[in-house]
Amino acid sequence: MKIVLLGPPGAGKGTQAKRIEKALNVVQLSTGDMLRAAVAAGTDVGKRAKAVMEAGKLVSDDILIAMIEARIAEPDCKNGFILDGFPRTVAQAQALDAMLKGKGTKLDSVIELAVDDAALVARISGRYSCGACGAVYHDQTKPSKAEGVCDACGSTKIVRRPDDKADTVAARLKAYHDQTAPIIPYYREQGVLKTVDGMADMDQVTKALGKILGREVPAV
Ligand code: AP5
Repeated sequence: MKIVLLGPPGAGKGTQAKRIEKALNVVQLSTGDMLRAAVAAGTDVGKRAKAVMEAGKLVSDDILIAMIEARIAEPDCKNGFILDGFPRTVAQAQALDAMLKGKGTKLDSVIELAVDDAALVARISGRYSCGACGAVYHDQTKPSKAEGVCDACGSTKIVRRPDDKADTVAARLKAYHDQTAPIIPYYREQGVLKTVDGMADMDQVTKALGKILGREVPAV
């Protein structure tokens, strides 16, 4: 199954993609995680992306398209994937369609998580995650059971993202509305778009996604 999970920063794409990944035995492909790994490793792509990400802007289409094209050609994507953070522009969406068409396949589902801007700021400013396994937490709504320790893997490597500062979040939301929101009508016209109320409790969101995907997705 090939799925795109769409939504503004903090909508819950990463949280839900991790749950779907397990339930459907598909790979989560987070372009944000890939870029952060490139920045941490100091690769050419990482050097070009670092300042752009810290400013809350979008990294260029050519970098992202090449990155995804290479990634979906890897053997672990054979069973399917869930894209989290890609596509983010109409040019990326068109390139993805062309890539899949070239392989004789297409997207099965494009799901938008709809969340109000005011809720996004609160979600992002309270977010932290496990630097070892990537599990996502929130100071108020989803704290880890023991402070500073990941529930999922027991690591004490807790991280907060540098682009989660209030002024950068405002720039990320602007980039979403200006450059990413236009892909919603693009997919609606293709008849593949479904929208889920991302303001609901995260387990309810998981349930709604499972219904669309025709599979039960356990809340973890
Ligand atoms: P990226 O890493 O993709 O970040 P993002 O899209 O801004 O999304 P987030 O990861 O912030 O949020 P999320 O929707 O995954 O929410 P989460 O589940 O964590 O991109 C970062 C940067 O990389 C971009 O700004 C750009 O520069 C660059 N980039 C990446 N892809 C690119 C592309 N394709 N093209 C160009 N540039 C690109 O949840 C957030 C918080 O809310 C958590 O604490 C969670 O516990 C909580 N939460 C989740 N769901 C709920 C709920 N239902 N109720 C209450 N709380 C909830």
